[in-house]
Amino acid sequence: MRRQEAPYQEAMMRAPEARATEFHLPIKLADIADGDRILDCPAGGGYLRRYLKETGKKHRYIPFESKKAYAAFDKEMVLGDWLAMPFKEGSLDVMFSIAALHHLIGARDVFYREAHRVLSRPDGRLIIADVAEGTIAARWLDEFVGLRSSEGHHSEFLMEHAERTALENAGFMVRSYDIVPYSWNFPDLETARIFMKGLFRVDLATEPEMDAAIGDLLGFLPGPGVRIRWELAHVRADKT
Ligand SMILES: C[S@@+](CC[C@H](N)C(=O)[O-])C[C@H]1O[C@@H](n2cnc3c(N)ncnc32)[C@H](O)[C@@H]1O
Repeated sequence: MRRQEAPYQEAMMRAPEARATEFHLPIKLADIADGDRILDCPAGGGYLRRYLKETGKKHRYIPFESKKAYAAFDKEMVLGDWLAMPFKEGSLDVMFSIAALHHLIGARDVFYREAHRVLSRPDGRLIIADVAEGTIAARWLDEFVGLRSSEGHHSEFLMEHAERTALENAGFMVRSYDIVPYSWNFPDLETARIFMKGLFRVDLATEPEMDAAIGDLLGFLPGPGVRIRWELAHVRADKT
């Protein structure tokens, strides 16, 4: 069944700062330089844009989407297939892929080869932030979202050995692979709950069930406000 996109957008608008760290950390890993041509793949609502601006570096930002419904949220969005990108060989310096690759089932090697093709040499770098096997984020998706969203949740989580091998086979040098813990931050519990419900399309859980699942599977960090624990694998792979 097709995942609805509007609740993702609504969640992001309801708590626009919630995922700030999720965008700041990959940007730091990328070492953005003046002149960088940057692809956000897939870009969702193009939320990375404002955080890239904060770097103060002169750059070109290209939001890219494979899904028409997401592309409708941003008038600059380039629509295309993320396994056959409409970009010339060596035409991009940085590619970000944030919170999306786990949706790509059985085709990550094709994605890595395509990323390698469009990135420039010698500075081209692929920056991935995504859900890895064995993490709290994977448990949340498998043990709660998959059961409490009428759309289910079909994922292939990152696995360090498999990703390293596939990236190296595609021609990358893996500079770093780390599981990075941080938090999603909200002013209060109600905003947090609405955000989590919308972002993950959890339409089959009551409010107490939501709160219990967040507490049990993810957990909270000390305030200010409400901080939900989250963690993603962060990968930097450089074109060789
Ligand atoms: C949560 S958005 C992430 C977008 C953006 N990088 C961000 O961090 O906000 C998930 C992305 O995965 C892609 N995707 C592919 N298959 C999907 C699926 N079955 N459900 C949801 N998203 C899917 C969409 O194109 C979408 O951009």
